[in-house]
Amino acid sequence: MAHITRRALLGSAGLGLLAWGARPGPTGAPHDTYFSNLSQALKRAGIGTPTLVIDRQRLHANVNQILRNIGGRMQLRVVAKSLPSMALIHDVLSLTKTDRLMVFSLPQLLQLAPDRANTLLGKPMPVTAAAQFYRQVPGNPADQKVQWLVDTPQRLVQYRDLARQQQLSLAVNFEIDVGLHRGGIDSAQSLQDMLAILQSEPRLRWSGLMGYDAHVAKIPDVAGLRQKAMDHARQTYAAYAQQVQAALGNAVGTATFNAGGSPTYRLYDGSGVENELSVGSAMVKGLDFDTPLLADLQAATFIATPVLKVPRQFRMPYGVEVLGDAARIWDRNQEQAYFIYGGNWLAEPVSPAGLAGSGLYGTSSNQQVLVGSGLQQLQVDDMVFFRPRQSEAVLQQFGDIAVYEDGKISQFWKPMAATA
Ligand SMILES: Cc1ncc(COP(=O)(O)O)c(C=O)c1O
Repeated sequence: MAHITRRALLGSAGLGLLAWGARPGPTGAPHDTYFSNLSQALKRAGIGTPTLVIDRQRLHANVNQILRNIGGRMQLRVVAKSLPSMALIHDVLSLTKTDRLMVFSLPQLLQLAPDRANTLLGKPMPVTAAAQFYRQVPGNPADQKVQWLVDTPQRLVQYRDLARQQQLSLAVNFEIDVGLHRGGIDSAQSLQDMLAILQSEPRLRWSGLMGYDAHVAKIPDVAGLRQKAMDHARQTYAAYAQQVQAALGNAVGTATFNAGGSPTYRLYDGSGVENELSVGSAMVKGLDFDTPLLADLQAATFIATPVLKVPRQFRMPYGVEVLGDAARIWDRNQEQAYFIYGGNWLAEPVSPAGLAGSGLYGTSSNQQVLVGSGLQQLQVDDMVFFRPRQSEAVLQQFGDIAVYEDGKISQFWKPMAATA
């Protein structure tokens, strides 16, 4: 039989105490002033279901900050997919005094067409989608200021054939690969082939280049790695622009040389051939956009949802209750459960502080459980706030968007229909 010494006993007791001391401490707090004011505004507006909120003052502050950062050195193109509400897009366009939009879907393109905005497609559309656009678009097709994005000689031939069949004059912008490797022209030969097709068809008008560089922001800013990727992107861009210049000459003067996006727009200073930057997401700043390059912008969109149930404590279902007991004993941040209206969104809880989903209990789109220490002091019918990870798609999941300004819900903005 094993002989348990006094020393071993003391040792294990010591270890146990050490482990107990390493338990996570309780964290969390009730809503701060910003979120309690927002809660009250929602209550006064009679809102009791999951609702997407845009803080219009923060939105405007972000847009103005972005304009200041660009400083007129380049033009701004507003990314419609990341601000998917006509009212929101119009609010931003009027503030930025631009008519430049980047659009990524046929239904959104059709919806925006009557605005006669200067529109650049952000991805190459199948030619059948372009044909559908010209069948459905109201008004004169020649009136539409659309730059179709074309990435390969094959697609350019398809667009050329569409232009011939429908007797259209099409503006085509060439997508170039500046390092993201998400498609686009990736060799001088491809560009040469496309220029040859273009020059043999008067119905096609070349309108510029688009090179997206999102990978640059993902590369760690150590040992010059990010700078290297940025230098590569800009040199690649310049080389393609030069090749077009050699072939087309004058057309280059008025061309759209689009680059950047929310994650990278700060890396441009207007010194290169790129003459405009696309930005959308950063204006409302979902969680994924909490990056050092966007630190001067504020979160301007939230999901608000009421608490439905506040049980005595967090409990796992019958049969595995012991797991919940153990979790509660170990981590005081799993002491209290709050069941909310809805859930399972592409979003994280932000207020009150210290709430989290339960890996043990799982998630639910119907009544998600959040766990916390109880320091949040939530009651039934109180609001919980989430931050969407991104604005694209998420803004379209909650019906009318509640616009928060001057301490109240001032209006509601219809989101665009959730289509691809
Ligand atoms: C081609 C292109 N440009 C720019 C952007 C940036 O959009 P946002 O500023 O909304 O992130 C994207 C995002 O997907 C994109 O695909």
